[in-house]
Amino acid sequence: MKPLKLTLQNFTCFREATEVDFTELSLYAIQGPTGSGKSSLLDAICFALYGETPRLGAKGLDALISQGAQSMAVRFEFEVGDERFEVVRSKGRKASESETRLAKYQNGKPITAVEGNKKKDIQSEIEKVVGLSFDSFTRAILLPQGQFDRFLKGNSREKQELLGRLIGLDRFTRMQKVASEKSRTARTQHDLIQHRLEMEFAEVTPERIQEQDQVLQDTLQQLQEQEQHLRVLTEALAQQEELARLHAEHNRHLKELQTLQAQKIQMEQLGRRVQAAQAVSGVLGLIRQSRTLQEKAQLARTQYAKLEQDHVRVQGTLQQAEQGFARAQEQTAQIPGFDQQILHLQEAQTQFARLKQLGGDLKLKSLQVLPWSEEAFFQARSMVELKAQLETEARQIQQEKTRLTQQKQQILKEQQDLNNRRKDLELLVPKGKEARAEYDRLRAELETSRVQHQAMHLKAHLKVGEPCPVCEQKVSRLPGTAVGNVQALEQQVKAAEKHLEEIKEAYQTEKTSLQTLASRIQQAQEYFTEREAALQELETQHQQKHQGLTTEHPQEQLQALLAGLVQTILEKSGGEDPERRIRQLQQEKQRIQQELQSSQRALGQAQTQHATLTAQLNSQKSQLAEREQEHQEASSTLKEALFALSMTEQEALQHAMTAEELQKAREAMEHWRTQMARVEVQLSDLQERMAGREYLPEQHQQQKAQHAQLETSIKALSVRMGQLQTQITHLQERLELKRNLLREAAAHQKTFNTWDALARNLQLDRFPKFLLEEVEEQLLLGAGTLLGDISDGRYALHLQDGEYVVSDHWNAGETRPIRTLSGGETFLASLSLAIALSDYLAGNKLLGALFLDEGFGTLDPQALDAVARALEKLQISGRMVGVITHVSALAARLPARMLVEKRMTGSSVRIDSEEVYS
Ligand SMILES: Nc1ncnc2c1ncn2[C@@H]1O[C@H](COP(=O)(O)OP(=O)(O)O)[C@@H](O)[C@H]1O
Ligand SMILES: [Mg+2]
Repeated sequence: MKPLKLTLQNFTCFREATEVDFTELSLYAIQGPTGSGKSSLLDAICFALYGETPRLGAKGLDALISQGAQSMAVRFEFEVGDERFEVVRSKGRKASESETRLAKYQNGKPITAVEGNKKKDIQSEIEKVVGLSFDSFTRAILLPQGQFDRFLKGNSREKQELLGRLIGLDRFTRMQKVASEKSRTARTQHDLIQHRLEMEFAEVTPERIQEQDQVLQDTLQQLQEQEQHLRVLTEALAQQEELARLHAEHNRHLKELQTLQAQKIQMEQLGRRVQAAQAVSGVLGLIRQSRTLQEKAQLARTQYAKLEQDHVRVQGTLQQAEQGFARAQEQTAQIPGFDQQILHLQEAQTQFARLKQLGGDLKLKSLQVLPWSEEAFFQARSMVELKAQLETEARQIQQEKTRLTQQKQQILKEQQDLNNRRKDLELLVPKGKEARAEYDRLRAELETSRVQHQAMHLKAHLKVGEPCPVCEQKVSRLPGTAVGNVQALEQQVKAAEKHLEEIKEAYQTEKTSLQTLASRIQQAQEYFTEREAALQELETQHQQKHQGLTTEHPQEQLQALLAGLVQTILEKSGGEDPERRIRQLQQEKQRIQQELQSSQRALGQAQTQHATLTAQLNSQKSQLAEREQEHQEASSTLKEALFALSMTEQEALQHAMTAEELQKAREAMEHWRTQMARVEVQLSDLQERMAGREYLPEQHQQQKAQHAQLETSIKALSVRMGQLQTQITHLQERLELKRNLLREAAAHQKTFNTWDALARNLQLDRFPKFLLEEVEEQLLLGAGTLLGDISDGRYALHLQDGEYVVSDHWNAGETRPIRTLSGGETFLASLSLAIALSDYLAGNKLLGALFLDEGFGTLDPQALDAVARALEKLQISGRMVGVITHVSALAARLPARMLVEKRMTGSSVRIDSEEVYS
């Protein structure tokens, strides 16, 4: 365990949060006045790790909370081997306010090391990590003030326990456990195999295999004997079976012979039938020929009769065709007449076309009929047009006359109006003169009235005979009283002026209007005169045209002419539509021509048919005669042949056989003969082969049964041999397995012996005890040397009956108990032990540090020097050593100092490492 950082707050005199960094320190003095809190720093480490302090133990720790504060907290970071941990412990005045956490650093971050909040679990984990209990910790690492001799003076059991833990003797206990576990396992496995060998392999022995092998040999011999016997028997059985086969074959052939002999009569009959068939075979051809010819003659007769019927029918057809053709020829005589008529009708048709062109038709009616003339028709038509034109013109002239009359009246009326308005205008002239006179009078009156009024105003300033101030003339008389009202007069003048202006304006307006009207009337008059002249011209022309009209009724004349044309057409076409009539005549002509052609064709066909049939009939007639002749001849030849055989045709046919039947019959007879010969040969051959041996079926059966029995027995023996072979193989395998198991059991026994011996030794503490004694001796030797060094060679340490003693060279090396040493000597011995222990266990992760709290005050300068040297040596081997001391000389010698300063507000810590080098 090596401290890294300590942080404390409200811990005794450390009120403020105080941090102490140990990382840069190795050997240093913790210095400060009494009561500054040096011991408190070590207490804080103990409190953090164990929740107790050397001074107070585990109880009443409230006393550590700074007075006036409610709770304290300590955080301690440290290193064990390569691992870094942090423990945080806080405590309040109430029991519920305390908390402990252990964290392990991973990648530079603390993570909780113990799950849950159980104080006990956390505490035991901390102790596991540190590797020491509180007791061991305060004896080996942190030697508290006034208690540094606890290890030295502790009883031997306590010392051994601590040493055992420090050097890791507990691992031997674990080892013992492992050894006894292993020995137990080995024993169990050995016993298991042994048990199995007894239970499963007792029977498996080489002797047993030998026995089985003997049985196998015996069985093999038995098998060979039986196989020999079987071979003999098989031979005999084969001969017997050959004889049985021959016997059976002989019997079969005998039966076959009997069957063939029974067929002999049939074969003789068949021979006779074949002879008869051969005899009639000549006649059969004649019968067939005669019948065929008869059929042919019959057929020729039928065909002839049919041809005769057809011939009669065709003759009828020919007659009809001849009559039809004669009729058609008669009709053709009409055709020239038709042509004549058509020629005549074509003229009427041309005229009819003209009639239609002129808008007429054949139904046209008219009272009067005039002979048709193209010229007369055009003359009449132009008269009709002229008449229509004249009528239109007459209407137009009449309309124009009416319009001119109306216009004349209009002009007259406007002239009248103009005259009247001129008269009225003349009347305005005196009225105007009157208005002017009135106006002039009123103006003069107004002027007079105004002068009078001005004089009235001057009257006061005027005196008769004196000059007037206005006109500078001598005043002849004073003006009289004013007459008239000036304002009224002014209004009258205005009204008169207005009246006068109105009359003037009305006159002017009317005058202009009348001038306009007069010029318009003038224009109308001129226009009227022009139109009147034009109308007269038109009337003159109209009169002249009328003289050209030859008749008053040109339309009737036109109708009469068209009626004449209709009469001409109907006379030519016989009163019919000429077009239709032409069409009828042409169709009739065509029909007659077609009829002539078709009747001519029919006649031709009928003639051809008749000629053909006549020829066929003649040829058929000669053929029929031939067929009848042929039949006659064949029939007489047949009669002669039948007479020679003295058979009727019927009988001859009964004996007849087809070539196939004949062939079959001959083959059957041949086959029978061959079979017969073969069976006879085979029978004599078999008799020879049997050579008079007799076949006994009972004997054969017996032999067969024996053979089968023997075969079964051999099979059983083979099976048995197989089984034996398998058993032997199995036994051999088992024997091999047994040997392996025996070897295995022996190996387990050996393992057991080894582990058992080890377990026994470890159990009896023989080895650990031996080791502990060794360590203690080494420790005492080291501490003794150190003590000798410090004590100027006076003391050495020894082990006597498990207790530590000192030998005093000043007293001839006599030993005495440790308790007899003085306070300073005890401190030196303890320090020697602590240093020796630390030295002995150098590199042990548990002892990475050593803290000493006071005790140096009791040493003389010589001893102090030796102590300082010892401490320096200790520091060199990489451990951190912190000593609390009042002795300035010692503090000054050490490479660094941790200065604890005391103030009323709370203590603080400062590291001072430069001073030593400066
Ligand atoms: N609970 C507390 N509150 C405040 N001061 C305390 C408390 N307990 C102890 N002290 C004081 O803290 C000081 C430090 O004591 P200690 O660590 O033993 O000093 P040192 O070891 O430096 O002589 C002492 O003055 C002591 O009386
Ligand atoms: Mg102290």
